[in-house]
Amino acid sequence: MIHPDCERILLTEEEIAEKVKQAAAWLDERYKGTTPIAVSVLKGSALFFCDLVRAMKTPVFMEFMMVSSYGGSSVSSGIPKIVLDLSASVEGKDVLLVEDIVDSGHSLAKMRALLEGRGAKSFTVVTLLDKPSRRQVPEQADYSCFEVGNEFIVGYGLDYDQRYRNLPYIAVLKESVYTK
Ligand code: IMP
Ligand code: MG
Repeated sequence: MIHPDCERILLTEEEIAEKVKQAAAWLDERYKGTTPIAVSVLKGSALFFCDLVRAMKTPVFMEFMMVSSYGGSSVSSGIPKIVLDLSASVEGKDVLLVEDIVDSGHSLAKMRALLEGRGAKSFTVVTLLDKPSRRQVPEQADYSCFEVGNEFIVGYGLDYDQRYRNLPYIAVLKESVYTK
């Protein structure tokens, strides 16, 4: 059953699980013989992150970071702010940044500048979703699971006003929910 605030399911639980497996295999190949620091950008990437690292055979260190960019609105402010920082140094380390979605690209640009500035040896970005039509800065993930159009989506970590994050699928939110 689809949540009544959602218009249609974009990606089912099964489709997501299959892609997560493929992304994990790609990362295992890339990180052979190393132990990267996997960074989850909270809260959006939390569900994807847990499934992804669990599907990987490579050992990883797990770190969390929180960047706010939206507040209660569905339009990005373009000025992301670091709310929660890492607990470990990334200097000289391989960093695997796990994002929920790359939209304008501002959050990713900020994370990249910050983590590379701290002396990460390598920086790899995996994103669950990519909205290339919305880009304001030239940013790109190294691996993107799904490309989506210019629609506001929720579920599997993604929220609208902190809601819908624990839906197991990804769905398009009804416009009436954010225009009322
Ligand atoms: P950016 O800085 O504009 O690339 O924004 C990235 C952040 O915006 C993501 O981490 C999400 O939290 C949020 N975001 C962008 N598009 C959507 C969407 O369709 N649904 C839910 N959150 C979104
Ligand atoms: Mg969000």
